[in-house]
Amino acid sequence: MKEESDESPGKPGKPVIEIRDMEIEDIATVFHLGEELFRAREVPNLYRTWDEYEVTSFFQDESEFCLVAEADETIVGFILGTTVTKRRSAWKYGLMVWLGVDPDYRRYGIGTKLFREFKDRMLESGVRMLIVDTEADNLEALRFFRSTGFGNPEEHLYLSLNLAAAFRQFRKKNGNGKNHKN
Ligand SMILES: CC(C)(COP(=O)(O)OP(=O)(O)OC[C@H]1O[C@@H](n2cnc3c(N)ncnc32)[C@H](O)[C@@H]1OP(=O)(O)O)[C@@H](O)C(=O)NCCC(=O)NCCS
Repeated sequence: MKEESDESPGKPGKPVIEIRDMEIEDIATVFHLGEELFRAREVPNLYRTWDEYEVTSFFQDESEFCLVAEADETIVGFILGTTVTKRRSAWKYGLMVWLGVDPDYRRYGIGTKLFREFKDRMLESGVRMLIVDTEADNLEALRFFRSTGFGNPEEHLYLSLNLAAAFRQFRKKNGNGKNHKN
């Protein structure tokens, strides 16, 4: 547990923020806050969907990388991530997958505090490289990531192939799909 008090001048009403581990009781609150933040954007993350299973699975897998920010005993932000070790690479990678701050509490440094604690934990676990991804038009996130030291953006294009029709044909041919051969 870590108490952080903000006394920096210039921002009246700056809330006192506590960054702490996410706990099992927080899952629903984090999920609902994320729903407000991520469902508002059409494609928040191409290969992941924000739902209650997403929050639960991060919490089950590596709860040390699930943190919340509290102001006045209310959760106003969270960060969820995980680590990846690649074959033939000595490096352990840290993925920062979901980061969100309640719109009423933005630009108070809460995202930065969440990220700093997250980074410290990643360092402690031996991570040598942190990775984030975001949509190219999510300028607030891009500016935030830049401000926390991320750089070297790699241009990466996602292409998609809709398999719905092929899937229907497959089901017709193979029934419920349980009998398919690899
Ligand atoms: C990105 C996000 C987490 C930032 O949270 P935050 O608590 O407002 O961030 P901070 O107050 O720590 O901002 C740190 C710095 O980032 C930059 N920044 C953050 N938001 C910005 C914005 N809207 N416009 C321009 N710069 C911004 C600034 O440099 C800021 O420093 P400053 O306020 O002293 O100028 C928040 O905007 C958010 O939840 N966005 C929606 C969800 C999302 O897109 N998440 C990221 C992808 S998963």
